[in-house]
Amino acid sequence: MQLSDISDDLESTLFTEQQIADKIAELALRIDADYAGERLLLVGVLKGAVMVMADLARALTLPIEMDWMAVSSYGSGTQSSGVVKILKDLDTDLTDRKVLIVEDIIDSGLTLSWLQANLRSRGAASVEICALLRKPAAAKVQVQVRYAGFEIANEFVIGYGLDYADKYRNLRGIGVLAPHVYKNTQ
Ligand code: IMP
Ligand code: MG
Repeated sequence: MQLSDISDDLESTLFTEQQIADKIAELALRIDADYAGERLLLVGVLKGAVMVMADLARALTLPIEMDWMAVSSYGSGTQSSGVVKILKDLDTDLTDRKVLIVEDIIDSGLTLSWLQANLRSRGAASVEICALLRKPAAAKVQVQVRYAGFEIANEFVIGYGLDYADKYRNLRGIGVLAPHVYKNTQ
């Protein structure tokens, strides 16, 4: 689905499919170099990170393993609740593993700081973070993101895995959701 297919629901376009692909390629180059010769485990955070994970994993030239976690910090609204709950845990034992968490977006940072601490406590050799988007103005806790894609303003965005009430994940680009879509449900 293209951004133009849902233009009524969009305030503006942020990133096209091509801009996203270029950024992922850039991040993959750095990850390839930093983990050369290592056995890297990518941990995707469901559901938002599926597109980033799929494209990043294929952009890498390293052999990697993939695992998934599902955590919830949001309801169906647009504000972070600060409450993190594991909905689906990893299948992989993290002892001595080099782990790279793959995320769509860092908003308050609450989800990722919690997740990074949680994975470190399982005996991983290292736990770094790759996030395609970051909203610095929304940060409630500081998180060290080793591989950061784009910095964006504090607006609610959709597409490329990012949803509003589980919709819009299949957009090829990323856009700002028009307020009329959510203003009656808050
Ligand atoms: P945080 O704990 O506030 O950093 O929230 C992180 C999670 O909230 C992300 O993994 C997303 O699933 C979701 N999220 C945060 N901002 C947005 C947004 O603008 N659009 C869609 N989902 C978002
Ligand atoms: Mg989400």
